[in-house]
Amino acid sequence: MTSKKSDIKSPEGKLGILIPGLGAVSTTFISGVLLIRKGMHKPIGSLTQMGKLRTGKGIDAKDVNIKDFIPLATLEDLEFGGWDLFEDNVYESAKNAAVLSREDIDPIKEELEKIKPWKAVFNRRFVKNLDGKWVKEAPTHWDLAEMVKQDILNFQKEKNLARMVMVWCGSTEIHQVMEPGVHDTIANFEKALKENHPAIAPSMIYCYAAMSLGIPYANGAPNLCNDIPAFWELAEKNQVPMCGKDFKTGQTFMKTLLAPGLKARMLGMQGWYSTNILGNRDGEVLDDPDSFKSKEVSKLSVLHQILEPEVYPDLYGDFYHKVTINYYPPRGDNKEGWDNIDIFGWLGYPMQIKVNFLCRDSILAAPFVLDLAIFLDLAKRASLSGNQEWLAFYWKSPMHTPDEEPEHDIFVQLMRLKNTLRWFMDEPPVTYLGSETYN
Ligand SMILES: NC(=O)c1ccc[n+]([C@@H]2O[C@H](COP(=O)([O-])OP(=O)(O)OC[C@H]3O[C@@H](n4cnc5c(N)ncnc54)[C@H](O)[C@@H]3O)[C@@H](O)[C@H]2O)c1
Repeated sequence: MTSKKSDIKSPEGKLGILIPGLGAVSTTFISGVLLIRKGMHKPIGSLTQMGKLRTGKGIDAKDVNIKDFIPLATLEDLEFGGWDLFEDNVYESAKNAAVLSREDIDPIKEELEKIKPWKAVFNRRFVKNLDGKWVKEAPTHWDLAEMVKQDILNFQKEKNLARMVMVWCGSTEIHQVMEPGVHDTIANFEKALKENHPAIAPSMIYCYAAMSLGIPYANGAPNLCNDIPAFWELAEKNQVPMCGKDFKTGQTFMKTLLAPGLKARMLGMQGWYSTNILGNRDGEVLDDPDSFKSKEVSKLSVLHQILEPEVYPDLYGDFYHKVTINYYPPRGDNKEGWDNIDIFGWLGYPMQIKVNFLCRDSILAAPFVLDLAIFLDLAKRASLSGNQEWLAFYWKSPMHTPDEEPEHDIFVQLMRLKNTLRWFMDEPPVTYLGSETYN
């Protein structure tokens, strides 16, 4: 990182948020921003809007609002555009998703109806349980990417946007692994786009279109997408910040809260069993084993990194981790997660912890879309590029280089995020070693 306060460009003009996938999360996000702008709600769950950080030392220490501390795009500056394979406008889609009540979405009906999806880049091979007709057709993947770029440029002109970011809120695609010769370099990727290679997923086409135009990209789902060397290369070449993957909302959020605490007390663990019921479209997509595989890989990685069984074999050497998701339509977006944690303490005596989280998936994820868009825009204005590790706080499966372990402990992630914000503003980091308390 080379940037400093004076190098950050000011957030003047409007910021366009480009969203592939106008489903439950994104319509809840857009509706929320409009309601908050009207003063009808508070931005609960958003670090950029409600979070504070501490600056100064001793008696000079004070807690300041993050949004006052660092120049960020404001809610008034945001414009929304997106793609979907169903033609419903955002009002219709929000109604179908049934996350928010009619009492909440009806006052903003007119504004929501104006946001109509552009035709999607879609291929059923990657999301088997969906079949929409609002889909682009073109001879090659390359042509599809060009069409996405055109949508973006039209939107920019129409809304007079100064800057844009893209946040993937589309369905989870099937599990893929990096394919040499296609995903390894940008030259191979571009060749594969022109040759219609089957290893190129629709999400990659959106990501390619955005990053080719210098637009930052965040991946809200666990698909491979931007986590391939070709996109790491493109990000550096075009000086674009990016990040991912998979919003850390419900059960994994709980895991990254609890597991660091158990480990801090040197309590052992025999196993962690997690199951969920979920009835929204995301649940339906995840009912396909290939899409679930992407989610499973993302959910399973967390505990291993936090507990470090290689370093603490007596405590975690044999721990067993299992995660399942069951599609259960009556619950809609109101997911219920159960966790059973078998731990052991002094002299190996066993204990159990049960967690039953009756959460609302999109209510938890919507403020992430906002924060990620605003922080990625900050990163871009500060001339950062490539993977933004300081945003790992938001991810179940934070992207990382092959020789690095991702950080999953939510408190370490938060400290890192806030210290990066301090670094942007030439403020010394807070390490909690006591030196911040005493002059
Ligand atoms: N809600 C959460 O807490 C949470 C947490 C982590 C990850 N996610 C991920 O976020 C994504 C969105 O979740 P959701 O609950 O809004 O799902 P959703 O099914 O309600 O919305 C996804 C939308 O994407 C559309 N879509 C699928 N493929 C597309 C494509 N190629 N182009 C354009 N549109 C496409 C679908 O038609 C749908 O409208 C999912 O991948 C989900 O796994 C959500």
